This record gives sequence, structure tokens and C-alpha cells, in this order.
Amino acid sequence: MDQNPVLLEMRDITKRFPGVKALDHAQLTIRKGEVHAIVGENGAGKSTLMKLLLGLYAPDEGTIIWKGQTVRFRSPHDAISNGISMIHQETSLMPTTSVSENIWVGRENKFTHFGILNVRERDRAAQEVLDSLGIAISPKTLIKNQSVAQNQLVEVARAVSYNSDLIIMDEPTSALAEADIQLLYKIIRDLTAKGVSIIFISHKLEEVLTISDRVTAMRDGRYIATAEAKNCTQDDLIKWIVGRDMDAMFPKEEAEIGDVILQVKNLSTLNKMVRDVSFQLRKGEILGFAGLVGAGRTETMRALFGIDPLETGEVILDGRKIKIKSPKQAIHYGFSMVTEDRLRLGIFSKLQVKQNMSIVYLRDITGPGGTVDRKEEERNCLEMRDKLSIKVSSLKQPISGLSGGNQQKAIIARWLLAKPRILILDEPTRGIDVGAKAEIHHQISLLAKQGMAIIMISSELQEVMGMSDRIMVMREGRIVGEFLRDEADSEQIMKKAFGS
Ligand SMILES: Nc1ncnc2c1ncn2[C@@H]1O[C@H](COP(=O)(O)OP(=O)(O)OP(=O)(O)O)[C@@H](O)[C@H]1O
Ligand SMILES: [Mg+2]
Repeated sequence: MDQNPVLLEMRDITKRFPGVKALDHAQLTIRKGEVHAIVGENGAGKSTLMKLLLGLYAPDEGTIIWKGQTVRFRSPHDAISNGISMIHQETSLMPTTSVSENIWVGRENKFTHFGILNVRERDRAAQEVLDSLGIAISPKTLIKNQSVAQNQLVEVARAVSYNSDLIIMDEPTSALAEADIQLLYKIIRDLTAKGVSIIFISHKLEEVLTISDRVTAMRDGRYIATAEAKNCTQDDLIKWIVGRDMDAMFPKEEAEIGDVILQVKNLSTLNKMVRDVSFQLRKGEILGFAGLVGAGRTETMRALFGIDPLETGEVILDGRKIKIKSPKQAIHYGFSMVTEDRLRLGIFSKLQVKQNMSIVYLRDITGPGGTVDRKEEERNCLEMRDKLSIKVSSLKQPISGLSGGNQQKAIIARWLLAKPRILILDEPTRGIDVGAKAEIHHQISLLAKQGMAIIMISSELQEVMGMSDRIMVMREGRIVGEFLRDEADSEQIMKKAFGS
């Protein structure tokens, strides 16, 4: 890779936002045909560096050299016409329009003759792009009717369809199932074989070492190191990312397991995504849900939380049968749920970080007559900020100015502050950096110790096994296995999950 010509060089890039230096003399060199990963904590400046390249922000200082020329792109459109496209961390698709419309947005003139858009031609072209990449999605489907994973693949298709020389992928696999991740790796390998360069941003260090040729680590907006992936270990990366040695996983603290608080019996949903699911949950217990993405784990929790309608099933709380018909009722009964799609469903983007954190738990500190103890609110939010190391310049800043991972931490803080009786966590550490991940594990463990009953869905086997007292395995909407902490074995769990 060291022999390949340099395609892009970013030198001494500095960028300030009010109250924060997002980039501090950062640098990056990309060679032709390489997969180059960028790693770093939430808020390290990865996305900002890419947005600067793309012309979404202007750097305060620094030089960008693209194909040997000093450049400064004025807009993503400008960048695209010079051969750079990007898959953003936050989805940029329009919910009420079709897959095909999203792939060709801004390029409709390709299919417009005498002022009339030929929709069939456009859809056919979209189909060709999807087919060539092996993505099994129909161009006519509306974005809002697709899963997060499917939409992530649409973004991949769109980025690739520009035939760019450089494609930036900002956490492209965060919501993908294993099969789709493999598909994306294949797409990446095919692209690099043709000489396309890829910038790959990810918090999954194993993946980073698998897919990339070289890795650049950043910390606090600064450049730390660039190395060949084959010469690195995960421990090297962790050391560069957090600046010290550490374990990515916090040891689970033993909690006393109490009485059964929740019984779910024969739950099935009208959409057939959940079939005959039964389980029990005890106080102080962490019940893990393992399985492949799409196995029905999220759907089970959505049904339990009153989002999706039930076909059959009983929910028994403290020995009493209850009916939960809406999330509001679920919250009333003491349930809380951190959704996997928090960046889309959980954020009030115009509100302050503090308001986003305290929006649920406020009712607990609201006195008679509706007075809120603002001091208490401030104290609790500051404590959460420190515990989860949420990177903010002020708790009063709008949450939209936070990095993707820090927005996620704020939403997790919201539900930790709410102190529910039953906490449902769906992929709690997706998109969270290694340091904060260990801290979130620690917090979850402490809550269980205080008697909270916790359900945790995770596609990361190491995480489910490390955190859970008991593990349920799901496949195709059903529970196909149950393991106690001591008998859990990764091979056995995977076999159940894959159905072999
Ligand atoms: N539009 C903005 N306004 C204010 N501050 C911003 C803005 N965009 C980014 N920042 C700040 O710049 C810093 C770097 O953010 P950036 O999004 O680049 O981090 P990141 O490395 O991509 O993190 P993550 O892994 O969480 O996605 C953060 O402190 C963030 O709060
Ligand atoms: Mg980012």
C-alpha cells in the first residue's frame, strides 16, 4: 500500500466551533485503492474532518490536497463532481420518498426528457445499481417502510453510484446484520480492486483491523498515529484512542437476583415478526437477548412496550395481568426503553442537551404545583455528563451540535436518570467508543445491583455474554435457546442463532 500514489492529503487542519476546538492540526493521507480506517473516541473529530473535506464546513486553518492540487470544495455537490462521495453517520434519506428517488436525488435530469421525468427509466437504473452491488431491495419501496439496515444499504448504493474515486463511510455497519456486513465488505473489496479509495470510520476495532489496509487514530481533534492494519492489535488501537491501556469491557458486578417482576407469555404480534415468545424477568437481573439482526428481538420489545399491536399473549407484572397499549402506558407501569434507532427516534434536536437528558425524569423532581428543582436537575445532569464522559461545551447547547456518539450517550443518560423498574436497552453501546462503552456497562451493572430489572439486546456476543445473568437466543421471531451465565458458550449461542 505504501507504493500506491497519494490521492488525498489533509494537513494541519484546525476547526473551532463555539466553545470547542473540534480539530487541532489534524492530518490524514489517503492512497489510491486503499481502505483507510479512522478511529477515535466520540467527539474526537472524525466526522468533522470528513465534513470539512466535503465542503460542509470551512476549515479555520489547513491545506487540502486532492490529486496533487490544493483545493477547497464549496459544497458536497462540488466534492461529488470532483470524485468524492460520503455516507453520513446520520441518515440523509427522505422518509416519504422511494429508494430510487433517494439514489438519484439531485440527478433527476439524467432521466428527464423535454421537461418530463421518466420514472420507469429512473427506477430501472436504480434497480441496476442495486443489482450490481447484490443489494436485494426494491427501488419503489418507501424509505419509511424499510428497516434502518435496509436504509443504510440504500446510502451505500447511492454513494457508490457516483463512481467516485474516494468514498467516505461514516460508521456504515452500525445497524447492519452480519450477512449485510459481509456484503458491504465485498462491495468495498470490489471497489478497491478497481482503484477506488475508501475512508472507513468505525468504533468496532475488530472490524477495523479486518477491512482496512491502514488506520489513523485521532484524539481530541489531534492526529495520533497512522499504521498498517496488519501490524496493529486491538490493544494498540485502544491505547491510541483513549491514551492509556484499558479493557473494553467492564467486569459485571454480582447483583442479588430477586423475585420475578415480569412474565411474558406466548407473545405474538400481528406483523408476525414475534411468534410465541415467553420469558420471565427478575429484579436485579440482566436478561440478555442474543441473535442475528432481524431475529425479532427489537420487535419483541416494541410489542411489550405497546408500540406494535399484539395478536396473542399475556404480560404479567408483579403477578397481575396488565395490558400495555401504548408507550405512555408502558412508562406508567415503570418500563423504559432505549431504542436502537435513537438518533432518529430519541432526539429532540432543537432542545438543549440538558433538556434531552431530563425530559423523562423531570416528573420525579417536579414538586406539587409544578415547580421543578432546577438545582437538582443541573446536579444530576452534570453527574451523568461526567460518568458517561459526554463531550459538551455546555449542557445548554442544542443536542444537534454533539457528535453522533455523544448524542447517543445523552439519550442513554435520559433513561438512566429516569430510574425505571424495568429498563429495556436495545443495542446500548452501538456507535459508542471503547472508553465510554466500559462506563455504560458499569452503569448498567450498578442499576441491576440497585434492584432494577434489565433487558439488554445486543448483537455483540461478547457484550451479551459479559453482561447477562441469563441469555435468551432468538431466531425468526422465536426463542430458540436459553443459557445461564455460567453455562453460556459462544459457539452454542451462535449455533442457535444461525439455526444450525
Ligand atoms: N455543528 C457543530 N456545532 C458545534 N459543535 C460541533 C458541531 N459539529 C461537531 N461539533 C463538535 O466537534 C467535536 C467533534 O465532533 P465529531 O462529530 O467530529 O466527532 P466524531 O469523532 O465523529 O465522534 P462520534 O464517534 O461520536 O461520531 C465534538 O466536540 C462536537 O461536539
Ligand atoms: Mg462521527
